[in-house]
Amino acid sequence: MRRILAIVVGILVLLTAPAAAASPPTLRTLAARHDLRIGTAVDMSALADDAVYRQRVGSEFSTVTPENVMKWEVLEPQRGQYDWSAADRLVGFARQHGQAVRGHVLVWHNQLPAWLTATDFSADELRAILRQHIFDTVGHFRGRIWQWDVVNEAFNEDGTLRDTIWLRTLGPGYIADAFRWAHQADPNAKLFYNDYNIEDVNAKSDAVYALVRDLRRQGVPIDGVGVQAHLTVDAAPTTLRQNLWRFDRLGLDTAITEADVRMVMPPDAAKLQAQADVYRGVLGDCLATRHCISFTVWGFTDKYSWVPGTFTGEGAANLLDENFRPKPAYDAVRAELAARSVAREAA
Ligand code: G3I
Repeated sequence: MRRILAIVVGILVLLTAPAAAASPPTLRTLAARHDLRIGTAVDMSALADDAVYRQRVGSEFSTVTPENVMKWEVLEPQRGQYDWSAADRLVGFARQHGQAVRGHVLVWHNQLPAWLTATDFSADELRAILRQHIFDTVGHFRGRIWQWDVVNEAFNEDGTLRDTIWLRTLGPGYIADAFRWAHQADPNAKLFYNDYNIEDVNAKSDAVYALVRDLRRQGVPIDGVGVQAHLTVDAAPTTLRQNLWRFDRLGLDTAITEADVRMVMPPDAAKLQAQADVYRGVLGDCLATRHCISFTVWGFTDKYSWVPGTFTGEGAANLLDENFRPKPAYDAVRAELAARSVAREAA
């Protein structure tokens, strides 16, 4: 009798209590319902100088990726002389805001320091340099990086290996070496291969699939594949879900690592809606994949974006506009996250 009375009283209290002015849940809160981390690449100048940017990064996202400050040219501008300062600021910010860090990027053909590209090193010299950079970098951040982009963009569109200093001098074995060294330097970090234009099942993603399948068979410590998802409003992926599922079936994690959806300027209602549909579709495919563990946008506001400087006449690629106002894409991402939990089942 007392228990029933307590329940009745409880219900009455709930019915009469003034409704608290609840602020809408953040993207990170909604994503957590799906055991997903949602993230953004971070422009460190904006983080330092723009209070609105800083507040949004800290509140909306549960993982952050340095847009540039963990790249080789920034970390090791002179051989053996490291500048950890900017990267450490991001790692510190992430710790303050309960965010996981995606380390970006250990082995790439872009943004390398002049001392590395200006000299024609022998294979033994270059392998020693690569090994040392990986051990120094992964060792410095040991225990503070959730996922590392160990090797980035190693393939051409036709599935052949990209002609870089790494392939030319070291041969294809540089990829397995990089993963082994990163694992030795931090056994607890999740180690990813990362690339663009591998959203759909195509010659490039087939080559990535064959690579990671073979690496796993050889016992090379690789944990995941990062799908960058640099997209346009008129070219949504059509086989992303099947693509993510096949990596899932290999026992790998997947992640959307650099999503943005650019358009020919100026924006209009139709382009903004198409953009929203593309973002929602990519997020939905990740949510439908059991081990798609994070969804990261490559910047979240049109105020700071790499796109206009790279694709002349294009822009407006992000979730918020240049005044941090939500665009239809932001609303679409929220709606997809807020929808009832989808079964995160691989095929
Ligand atoms: O730091 C210099 C600065 O000292 C100089 O004054 C200024 C003007 O020349 O350039 C600055 O460097 C720029 C750097 O970003 C840091 O802001 C480079 O010019 C510029 O090319 C570089 O662009 C970055 C680009 O990678 C380089 O390839 C973008 O910000 C960054 O968003 C973009 O990110 C890549 C991912 O790492 C990998 N996936 C593709 C993605 C888009 O390209």
